[in-house]
Amino acid sequence: MTLWGGRFNGKPDAAMRQLNDSFCFDQRLYEADIKGSAAYVAALQKAGVIGADESAMLVEGLKLVQVEFEDGTFKQVSGDEDIHTAVERRLEEIVGPVAGKLHTGRSRNDQVTTDLRLYLLAEIATLGAQLKKLETAIVERAEKEIDVIMPGYTHMQHAQPILFSHWILSYFWKIERDLERLAAVAIGASVLPLGSGAIAGNPFEIDREWLACELGFSKVSENSVDAVNDRDYVVEFLAWAALVQVHMSQLSEDLILWSSNEFGFVELDDAYSTGSSLMPQKKNPDALELMRGKSGRMTGDLLSLLMALKGLPSTYNKDLQEDKEALFDAIDTLKMELPVATGVISTLKLHKEAIFAALDDGMLATDVADYLVEKGVPFRRSHRLVGEAVKRAEELGCSLRDLPLSEYRRIDPAFSEDVYKVFDFKRSIAAHSGRGGTAPSAVRVQIEKAKKSLHKNFAS
Ligand code: ARG
Repeated sequence: MTLWGGRFNGKPDAAMRQLNDSFCFDQRLYEADIKGSAAYVAALQKAGVIGADESAMLVEGLKLVQVEFEDGTFKQVSGDEDIHTAVERRLEEIVGPVAGKLHTGRSRNDQVTTDLRLYLLAEIATLGAQLKKLETAIVERAEKEIDVIMPGYTHMQHAQPILFSHWILSYFWKIERDLERLAAVAIGASVLPLGSGAIAGNPFEIDREWLACELGFSKVSENSVDAVNDRDYVVEFLAWAALVQVHMSQLSEDLILWSSNEFGFVELDDAYSTGSSLMPQKKNPDALELMRGKSGRMTGDLLSLLMALKGLPSTYNKDLQEDKEALFDAIDTLKMELPVATGVISTLKLHKEAIFAALDDGMLATDVADYLVEKGVPFRRSHRLVGEAVKRAEELGCSLRDLPLSEYRRIDPAFSEDVYKVFDFKRSIAAHSGRGGTAPSAVRVQIEKAKKSLHKNFAS
């Protein structure tokens, strides 16, 4: 039984049914669909469209349908083209013809987007909590490894020494912004479209403000033509998800590189690695490679919806059914992956000797330039003078630390014996004590701030 057979003589072609049906992927909306329907029943009763006894029957029936979905006994029959049709069909089997009153003034056009918003809001809460766990793991590692000095890279070339904790916290702040954006996405999704009907609104004096309150929405949509068409909230979520995934891919790339034989800075726990079917010695960072690789499909999810929406005429068009698989894919991917990311971070092994051995004096060249600045040399000039010292050291085949004082003084008499004090990685780190810098004192401030934010957005 479809919800629309009256004006038709013929039945849909089997291939057409396959193309048209969405039950196989939208059945996961059952809880949201039933919740929305139960609230709508109450609104119909409040409006005097149905009586209290009818309302009670409908709500009871809906509860039974929900139980069937939950315990896996719900049976799809031919004609159940989507979750809305399936629930109503089963409701009628359970409560009889009164089920026919449920859809009074309602259309699947306002129903489907109400369901999707409810579903998304619940999933947003789950994803927010998962990201909080990842943040917690990062902060814990930052605290634990506060002594580890590592080479910092720009352009993937040795740049300046930084604390490992400073590096790992850089991802905390990306995720913190992700959580702030997620809270904004939730606000955008929290708008009630129900009561918009197919296009023109509801003629049965449904109390939409009450419905919004009942369903936990913070607002009511203002225009029924817009409400049945609006998928901005899905786009916003997918854009959010794509950026989260890009952050995950960046984190992964750093760790993949550092776990290579050439770097050997970190080692993934066995729980997050796999072996090779051919090369017995291999331990591959598959968890990270998948997190890096999935940024392709997440961007694809966003683009597929944007392309489906581009040039879409006003109101509901069946193209909009295409919103779901992209949304579900993004949610499923993140929900599967975020606990893995948390596990990787909290079990990651650091090879501190290899990290320390990778530091070289050249990374302190900027500190030497800063040393001259303290002697009154303008930075542009000190930068050039240290550049000359680097060149001279290269010619002599030694490091800056071993370049004789006579050589330094030949370059500029501002250099004196105390220049050698600069060649101390700890000193260099400690010197960068300005807010947001890598000095242990500044990183401790960062950790305290991070800990406070753990109690904000989506904290459990
Ligand atoms: N399965 C449809 C969707 O996902 C439900 C809405 C159908 N509306 C309609 N007028 N055919 O968008």
